Amino acid sequence: MKMSKLSFFLLYLHCLFAISSSSTIIPLGSTLQASNRNQSWSSPNASFSLSFVPVTPSSFMAAITYYAGDVIVWSASNGSNGTGDGASLVVDSGGTLNLLPSGALRLTNGSGAVVWDSATANRGVSHASIDDLGNFQLLNNESAPIWSSFQNPTDTLVPSQNFTVGKILRSGSYSLTLGRSGNLTLNWNGTIEYWSLGFNSSINGNLTSPRFMLQSNGILVGLDPSFARGMINMAYSTDYGEGDDVFRFLRMDNDGNLRIYSTSESSGNITPTWAAVTDQCQVYGFCGNMGVCGYKDSNPVCGCPSQNFYPVDEHDGRKGCRRKVEIEDCPGDVTMLQLEHTKFLTYPPEVNDQTFIVGTVACRMNCLVSGSCIGSTLVADGSGICYMKTTDFISGYQGAVLPSTSFLKVCGQAVPNPSSYLDTSGKDNDSRLHAMVIIVVVLVTLLSLFAIVTGFWCWFYGGSEKSRRISAQYELVDYASGAPVKFSYKELQQSTKAFSERLGEGGFGAVYKGTLGNRMVVAVKQLEGIEQGEMQFRMEVATISSTHHLNLVRLVGFCSDGRHRLLVYEFLRNGSLDKFLFTSNDQSGKLLTWENRFNIALGTGRGITYLHEECRDCIIHCDIKPENILLDEGYTAKVSDFGLAKLMKPKDHRHLSLASIRGTRGYLAPEWLANHPLTSKCDVYSYGMVLLEIVSGRRNFEVSPETDGKKFSLWAYSEFEKGHIEAIVDKRIKDVDSEEVERAIMVSFWCIQEQPSQRPMMGKVVQMLEGVIDIEMPPAPKLVAEGLSSGTTMTVNSDVSGLSTYAASNPAPSSSSSFMNIGASPPTPEREMGKESSSLLGSK
Ligand SMILES: *[C@@H]1O[C@H](CO)[C@@H](O)[C@H](O)[C@H]1NC(C)=O
Ligand SMILES: *[C@@H]1O[C@H](CO)[C@@H](O)[C@H](O)[C@H]1NC(C)=O
Ligand SMILES: *[C@@H]1O[C@H](CO)[C@@H](O)[C@H](O)[C@H]1NC(C)=O
Ligand SMILES: *[C@@H]1O[C@H](CO)[C@@H](O)[C@H](O)[C@H]1NC(C)=O
Ligand SMILES: *[C@@H]1O[C@H](CO)[C@@H](O)[C@H](O)[C@H]1NC(C)=O
Ligand SMILES: *[C@@H]1O[C@H](CO)[C@@H](O)[C@H](O)[C@H]1NC(C)=O
Ligand SMILES: *[C@@H]1O[C@H](CO)[C@@H](O)[C@H](O)[C@H]1NC(C)=O
Ligand SMILES: *[C@@H]1O[C@H](CO)[C@@H](O)[C@H](O)[C@H]1NC(C)=O
Ligand SMILES: *[C@@H]1O[C@H](CO)[C@@H](O)[C@H](O)[C@H]1NC(C)=O
Ligand SMILES: *[C@@H]1O[C@H](CO)[C@@H](O)[C@H](O)[C@H]1NC(C)=O
Ligand SMILES: *[C@@H]1O[C@H](CO)[C@@H](O)[C@H](O)[C@H]1NC(C)=O
Repeated sequence: MKMSKLSFFLLYLHCLFAISSSSTIIPLGSTLQASNRNQSWSSPNASFSLSFVPVTPSSFMAAITYYAGDVIVWSASNGSNGTGDGASLVVDSGGTLNLLPSGALRLTNGSGAVVWDSATANRGVSHASIDDLGNFQLLNNESAPIWSSFQNPTDTLVPSQNFTVGKILRSGSYSLTLGRSGNLTLNWNGTIEYWSLGFNSSINGNLTSPRFMLQSNGILVGLDPSFARGMINMAYSTDYGEGDDVFRFLRMDNDGNLRIYSTSESSGNITPTWAAVTDQCQVYGFCGNMGVCGYKDSNPVCGCPSQNFYPVDEHDGRKGCRRKVEIEDCPGDVTMLQLEHTKFLTYPPEVNDQTFIVGTVACRMNCLVSGSCIGSTLVADGSGICYMKTTDFISGYQGAVLPSTSFLKVCGQAVPNPSSYLDTSGKDNDSRLHAMVIIVVVLVTLLSLFAIVTGFWCWFYGGSEKSRRISAQYELVDYASGAPVKFSYKELQQSTKAFSERLGEGGFGAVYKGTLGNRMVVAVKQLEGIEQGEMQFRMEVATISSTHHLNLVRLVGFCSDGRHRLLVYEFLRNGSLDKFLFTSNDQSGKLLTWENRFNIALGTGRGITYLHEECRDCIIHCDIKPENILLDEGYTAKVSDFGLAKLMKPKDHRHLSLASIRGTRGYLAPEWLANHPLTSKCDVYSYGMVLLEIVSGRRNFEVSPETDGKKFSLWAYSEFEKGHIEAIVDKRIKDVDSEEVERAIMVSFWCIQEQPSQRPMMGKVVQMLEGVIDIEMPPAPKLVAEGLSSGTTMTVNSDVSGLSTYAASNPAPSSSSSFMNIGASPPTPEREMGKESSSLLGSK
């Protein structure tokens, strides 16, 4: 270190002086040399230091590193002032980093050429400092920062570092920016926005200075002065809140993904704990122009669309592909290469794309005849949309679970890839192709001989009718369902790691967490007690997967393999609503705000309305309860377990209308117990109970001294009559919208009316909640007798107040015990119900 004794003395003084702010002072005139690896400017506890880091044995970059794992959190780079490509700038071993007397920090290479400069000369910089948070600053004589590494990030953010509007994290063609409205967005080439994480839309307009920050506990938070609570949690690392010595950082990686990483002194490993884009192949341009992304053993790999293309760089698939003959130079005919299970990524800001609602043939032909069209993609997600790509850049994604079909213009005959589309090396492919042709020819010859000798034709004729019937069924299923994927049992065993991670136990079987080949996380439900044939099972699967609604859990696929019947659903990270409503103590992290609750109530209502009134084959859910309402990352409600009742084989034919249905006590409509025909009004009843629970955070059947020994739902009505609305509302939530609360409570009382005809239809329920239509004063919900089963016997309970009960006038419930199978109820309420029933019996 070319530091005079005086500088050292000054440094010492400054250090003494600056202990409170915990930063090391670096005086003007200080220098670091690339040739001396011992030199560094380190923070007081040495967690961060600025030094030269070798890139190759003979080239170095000037970087701030974190000591555990040598994490580079900043480097002098081409993009660090908002321009350039973000590449770190390297110097040879003669390079130096000077803090010039003029106040500029300057990186020079061995021949003295300036490689990078902080552009702070003559702006009053009096010294520099580096603190224990990792911030390197150039400060004036009043300790105001003129320049800082926190304000000029490269590709990494450390905890407590603010990411504000105008800042940019860069890596190659990819960048992360923050919009005025509070969106954190990932962009390719500054033009295509392929990922976005926003603050709440309702408050977007009110933001004054939005910023993002990674907290040291691993939660990515959004901040703005307009937030009452100060911040909003936007994303969680998988290890958030764990480990005292864990250091986390957020990095814009050169594969276009934004990740949170964790490292600790003890392990030394750097592990990703969150990624913005879970499906890497959805990152625009990941495989370069004309490249196709796919998965091999869960790793994303790049290939070319067909043999009409060659890779730009044989050793790096991410560089993309080129046509062997360009379209402009094509001497013969231009044709359309058809790529099954492939889509060309399309993100909304690509305004150049033309969209049409057409079928496969038109999607192909429209592109072929259009001069500007490069390729087209038929999304096949049910929307019928065909995108015509007119930009020069095509980013492909191929995978067995993708329903899309794409077309790409090629010169002459389209030559598909042999077997695997991922083979990119041209020579290899040619020889492999030859080998394959030979094998195929031999096989075909052998097979034909075999067929002739054994009278294959006769056999085929005999079986043809059956096979035609089967294929017709398959076609129907595939069409009706928006293509649910069929998995083999083995595949699901693999993706769930042999059913090792159990998520829970539903009414129809256990649910396990799994990860598909494209890294999509799923919940796999192993159905029990299904005794249906394959065809009927597939019909039901088709019905379930033909429902597409924001508030319904999406069915990804199914498995019908031998005796195994499994359903594969999207995985929802926040789990079920009951965990949020009925957490006993103040786990504030798990507490939902009123806004969240109201939106969940609305969302659930909309999902059920869709099932009842809007989808093709109407579905009565029959088991609405908080356990069956799942929440995604943004706390959007998604109703699960619908359409399953029909899958269960009726065991008791005496009660056909009911036998196949499982309900959960506390949420069962009285007519269910009375053996009356079921209508969609059953779901309305259950929904009403759930709505009351969302408002109150208490089980509707809970009995306590606080509720005067009545069931909560009945006590709530008496409080409501007295005008004590606040008594009903969950005491743990603050800032409730009293108008919405009153609406929700009135609606819930309308829903739990004893007479089905008095309950509104689900669509009306939603309108009442939304405040679109006025709500009349609800009559008192009658006391409802609920069947309680303890073991095999059925008991009838009445309210302690001694009023006559439904059961008293109708003996049906007790006789219904034979078919009441209440395996679906969650453990907690069951226990509570048991207690309740015995105490009530005692009091009788
Ligand atoms: C760097 O430090 C090590 C010990 O920490 C010492 O052995 C070595 O001589 C130093 N190198 C230089 C160039 O100062
Ligand atoms: C950023 O730095 C480059 C040199 O590294 C310089 O040419 C450019 O003008 C700077 N841009 C801004 C906005 O400071
Ligand atoms: C900095 O980035 C710009 C824009 O990508 C590029 O043209 C330039 O060559 C880069 N400079 C260096 C020194 O890498
Ligand atoms: C230093 O940088 C200049 C300009 O970038 C370049 O011409 C020169 O070759 C570099 N010298 C060394 C030793 O790398
Ligand atoms: C260094 O200090 C910072 C801030 O006080 C603290 O968070 C960090 O844990 C310390 N690191 C070490 C290695 O002591
Ligand atoms: C800081 O420097 C400015 C001139 O650059 C001078 O006017 C001012 O008095 C100085 N302040 C302190 C606290 O030394
Ligand atoms: C981040 O921004 C806030 C508000 O502008 C500020 O109070 C805080 O000091 C900043 N943090 C850092 C480390 O610069
Ligand atoms: C923010 O997101 C909205 C929609 O999600 C989008 O329309 C808008 O362009 C985005 N703004 C920025 C600055 O990215
Ligand atoms: C934002 O508001 C929407 C509806 O306005 C709500 O669904 C969501 O839970 C809220 N999100 C956050 C993070 O507060
Ligand atoms: C903030 O939002 C509220 C309601 O959305 C609106 O009434 C108010 O005018 C907004 N304030 C500003 C400053 O935009
Ligand atoms: C990349 O961006 C530049 C300008 O920002 C634009 O001219 C160019 O067309 C873009 N490239 C593609 C393939 O969209």
